[in-house]
Amino acid sequence: MSAAGTPQPNSPQASGPDSGAVSGSQSHAPTAPANQPPRGNPLQSQQPNSNQPNHNQQRRPGPSSGGPNYGPGNGPSNGPGPGPNGARRDGGRDDRRDDRRPGPPTMEAARSRRSDPRDLIPAKPKPPKLSDVPDANGRFGKFGGRYVPETLYSALDQLRATYDEVSSDPRFWDDLSDLLRSFVGRSTPLYPAQRLTAFARSRSQTGEAATIWLKREDLAHTGAHKINNTLGQALLTRRMGKKRIIAETGAGQHGVASATAAAHFGFECDVYMGAEDVRRQKLNVTRMKLLGARVIEVESGSKTLKDATNEAMRDWMGSVEHTHYIIGSVVGPDPFPRIVRDFQSIIGRETKSQCLRLLNGLPAAVVACVGGGSNAAGIFYDFVDDTNVQLIGVEAGGRGNVPGGHAASLSAGSPGVLHGSLSYVLQDQFGQTADVHSCSAGLDYPGVGPEHSYWKDAGRVRYTAVTDDQALDAFTLLASTEGIIPALETSHALAEAVELAQKLPKDKHIVVCLSGRGDKDVDEASRLLALRSNKSR
Ligand SMILES: Cc1ncc(COP(=O)(O)O)c(C=O)c1O
Repeated sequence: MSAAGTPQPNSPQASGPDSGAVSGSQSHAPTAPANQPPRGNPLQSQQPNSNQPNHNQQRRPGPSSGGPNYGPGNGPSNGPGPGPNGARRDGGRDDRRDDRRPGPPTMEAARSRRSDPRDLIPAKPKPPKLSDVPDANGRFGKFGGRYVPETLYSALDQLRATYDEVSSDPRFWDDLSDLLRSFVGRSTPLYPAQRLTAFARSRSQTGEAATIWLKREDLAHTGAHKINNTLGQALLTRRMGKKRIIAETGAGQHGVASATAAAHFGFECDVYMGAEDVRRQKLNVTRMKLLGARVIEVESGSKTLKDATNEAMRDWMGSVEHTHYIIGSVVGPDPFPRIVRDFQSIIGRETKSQCLRLLNGLPAAVVACVGGGSNAAGIFYDFVDDTNVQLIGVEAGGRGNVPGGHAASLSAGSPGVLHGSLSYVLQDQFGQTADVHSCSAGLDYPGVGPEHSYWKDAGRVRYTAVTDDQALDAFTLLASTEGIIPALETSHALAEAVELAQKLPKDKHIVVCLSGRGDKDVDEASRLLALRSNKSR
């Protein structure tokens, strides 16, 4: 989908009044001002700075620390590398040059022979890895940051301090590992979708197609990837000594996952949900109530995810003392985008390890749908530095490229502030958040996580959009070819993967993040399919 026809406001700080009390506040603008024009390659601003701690490097419990399997950057799936306690997996074989024999001259030897002052110039620093974000200010290049009123600042600081503390605490990651194994049912399978692949082959001009594999997050407890994040944040809530959680939800999956975590830990739980989403995701409303949560229907604005997020943020401003806000995606002010990405990155670590085992190598491409961007960030993160793996994020193309007809923030938006961080946002020429549309409640959002904006501008991830009609076709296609009913959100990624498979040879492999199951969508999809067939008569 092209950006043509979409207004491009001048100010990157633009945000609509409906974007919540937090969206436009500059009272605590982080060091790097948001209105700075992009200077060249956004990666340049990420040069290592010895004065500033890098959260990623600080955070990752190293393999020799005895860290648990599910800690960030320390999964069972990191492939070859140091074994437990630093043991080498090659049995200790040392490939370094034997210094007793003469070999090619080394730099050190050359330097000691010559006294050319140019030899003293230090080697050019290596460019930073794309995965080494955010920086100490919560910035992903120029994106991210913290645009919130003062009332939230101390709660965000407390959350950041708590997360930094647990990052090097193996007990925290052990607790999370245990929960992910015994409560969620991880690891989720990587499944070869053979009949779906055969369908792609039947459509291909070459008679060949890449094999499509499904990372089955739909098989995780509660039926989607959202539970990976809510359990991690519930553990943080307990550490901070808070007793109540709140959440926003669109498709209801994050609401169900939050209500589930609350029931498990004995927290009080309130979930904000737009009235339109309450209508189209009824099953999940019933589930949340059964789990003991209170579902607060939001009647403002378009009555969808953006409005639910506004209300949840408002609640949090008045309740930070005893309440933690479990944000459901890689959005919001620092440190949320980093925390949610880390908790979801288990998807990519498992996928990588499964690919190395089942395919003997990495896939040609990884495809995921993008609402706020958490399942995509989760599966992409471990592949971001593997530049031979194509990463493709699929947004909601809705009814096509007409204003208010889609929710493709990265494909058609421009930098602006929404819900506490700077990222691509769909907005009008005055900076008012635009109306959006998608058949899928979980993608029906005018913003996206800041790390996706960073990946887009760096050219690392290709973002595309799939229409409601294409997603509905993929919804019925997966059900009839594989016996799996996907979520409508996920159906967007499936539609793109089937197209891509037709363009690749048969020895290639594509992994799709099957982010959730479609039980919640069967009524709405049936209604939309009936409407469509009535129209075509
Ligand atoms: C099954 C499923 N997939 C994807 C999404 C989109 O969210 P995100 O982009 O954060 O993964 C949702 C949101 O509710 C969802 O329920």
